[in-house]
Amino acid sequence: MTEFDAAALDAQTQYKLLIGSVTPRPIALVTTLGSQGPNAAPFSFFNAIGSDPAMLMFSVGAKDGGAKDTVANILEIPEFVVHIVSDAIKEKMNVCAIDYPRGVNEIEQAGFTALASKKVRPPRIAEAPIAFECRLLQRLELGRGPYHVVIGEVVYFHYHEGIVDERFHIDVGKVNPIGRLAGRGGYTRITDRFEMPRLKLGGGVLEG
Ligand SMILES: Cc1cc2nc3c(=O)[nH]c(=O)nc-3n(C[C@H](O)[C@H](O)[C@H](O)COP(=O)(O)O)c2cc1C
Repeated sequence: MTEFDAAALDAQTQYKLLIGSVTPRPIALVTTLGSQGPNAAPFSFFNAIGSDPAMLMFSVGAKDGGAKDTVANILEIPEFVVHIVSDAIKEKMNVCAIDYPRGVNEIEQAGFTALASKKVRPPRIAEAPIAFECRLLQRLELGRGPYHVVIGEVVYFHYHEGIVDERFHIDVGKVNPIGRLAGRGGYTRITDRFEMPRLKLGGGVLEG
């Protein structure tokens, strides 16, 4: 075994170990709105965390001791839209990660199309296969960054045509999401999928 006592590691080393270990990570492309206009940025410290109601979280690190634009906007308007990043929009997503000053609209910089959302004020991105309109439920400040863990309740779901069937099953092949690995430019696709049904207590497999 290779092992480390976290107490002996600096934050950058622990970051490297975490992002190289927790893979692949889904990517949330988050749009927000503040007094200086709309903003879009990707976050891979991201996941779904509950379904009654539907809840998502993402975690935003500090920037020069202050908040990133996404957090600054959420403090002004506690609403946001989380988009799933597909292979088709990866380069545009990458443009949104550029460290532009607060007033710059990354949706425009990336060449995305902004659409009005149904129930929240920040716009959504037309090219994303899935968009979740969210209202802020909680914001936690954690650690020494501090990290801002943003938890939202999904209030409206958007899907491109053909992704959801009549039983609300998602065709992930049509979404074609990418995942974040470690390093300067490491990503993965979902081109090698397999199925493994859940086991029932006493034998057999769970249906559905
Ligand atoms: C794929 C990807 C994943 C990222 N994940 C995170 C993350 O989880 N947390 C974070 O603070 N920054 C993350 N970043 C960096 C932010 O996107 C970047 O700092 C961005 O400029 C923040 O924008 P904002 O200041 O407009 O909010 C990620 C960047 C990329 C390309």
